Amino acid sequence: MAKVTVVGAGFVGRTAAMRIAESNLADVCLVDVIEGWPQGVALDLRHTASIERFDVDVTGTNDYADTADSDVVVITAGLPRKPGMSRMDLLQRNSEIVGSVCDQTRETSPQAVVIVVTNPLDEMTFLAAQRTGFESNRVMGMAGILDSARLEAHIAGELGVSPLKVQAMTLGSHGEQMVPLPRQATVDGRPLTDLVDAETLDRLFERTKGSGAEVVGLLQKASAFYAPSSAVRRMCRAVLSGTDQQVLPVSAWTTGQYGISDVYLGVPVRLGKTGVQEIVELELNEDELAQLRAAAEAIRSRCDDLSKLD
Ligand code: NAI
Ligand code: 2OP
Repeated sequence: MAKVTVVGAGFVGRTAAMRIAESNLADVCLVDVIEGWPQGVALDLRHTASIERFDVDVTGTNDYADTADSDVVVITAGLPRKPGMSRMDLLQRNSEIVGSVCDQTRETSPQAVVIVVTNPLDEMTFLAAQRTGFESNRVMGMAGILDSARLEAHIAGELGVSPLKVQAMTLGSHGEQMVPLPRQATVDGRPLTDLVDAETLDRLFERTKGSGAEVVGLLQKASAFYAPSSAVRRMCRAVLSGTDQQVLPVSAWTTGQYGISDVYLGVPVRLGKTGVQEIVELELNEDELAQLRAAAEAIRSRCDDLSKLD
């Protein structure tokens, strides 16, 4: 059985652990710094096995030795955004946490694929690649699947159709430089641009960009976790199956695709056992390319800020 370690047993981590277990994807090891907490969450989850019909193992620990030889390590450890906080406000504190998690991951699971969730997402993914020293294809960030699903939900709500009929994708950064692709979006096979006007498109995109903050504003004491944990499970499934051919938007290391190099950025990829197998080059127009390149430069400059923190 494959093994997934989820670092951080908070809202996102424990919900991701539950989703992975309930899908019978892999044994799950939850690790957190709070003594007793990951053990308690894991025990509670194990008590659901006969009801939910899963037979993977779920364990909780404060000791990285128990995470050894994981196939996938999901990093959710860190502080979530509080109301009014930007993702960048989290940079300093979360870089310390993610850095120390990566130091331990490098020692205990040297062959793992790493999926970063902690914010600020693209910058923490860059840091994780640096600190683990893993090949760049083995380190990636989760955001695009979440942002795309949110956009699909908003389109479905606007048109009064099932979300299952909607296909849409966002690239770029997890934040202000998100790049929605209206020309690629379809509803029941029809182009979205034939169904709504430009003003409505803008409103849907702006709501999608602000969806994380919208959820925080309502929850007050937490940020989103159901949709983020769904996206984590989707990525774990694609990596572990090794045969998943669906193109998924993921924060991946660019090597010239779209004219962009040497930065982690939300791009369409195919995932497999060793992480990112291929960055898929969609036909983007000049405006979309310009937005994607601007997102890349904004992330690059924030990664430079990150380097100055050391
Ligand atoms: P949370 O506060 O509920 O959980 C974080 C957990 O990390 C806590 O249990 C804490 O004890 C643990 N932790 C802190 N330092 C640790 C360390 N060194 N080792 C192991 N565990 C440690 O937060 P939540 O809601 O689960 O969010 C986690 C992170 O994910 C935040 O940075 C949040 O902004 C980010 N996030 C990113 C999303 C994305 O789309 N990429 C979506 C949702 C959340
Ligand atoms: C979100 O988009 C907080 O980044 C997180 O929900």
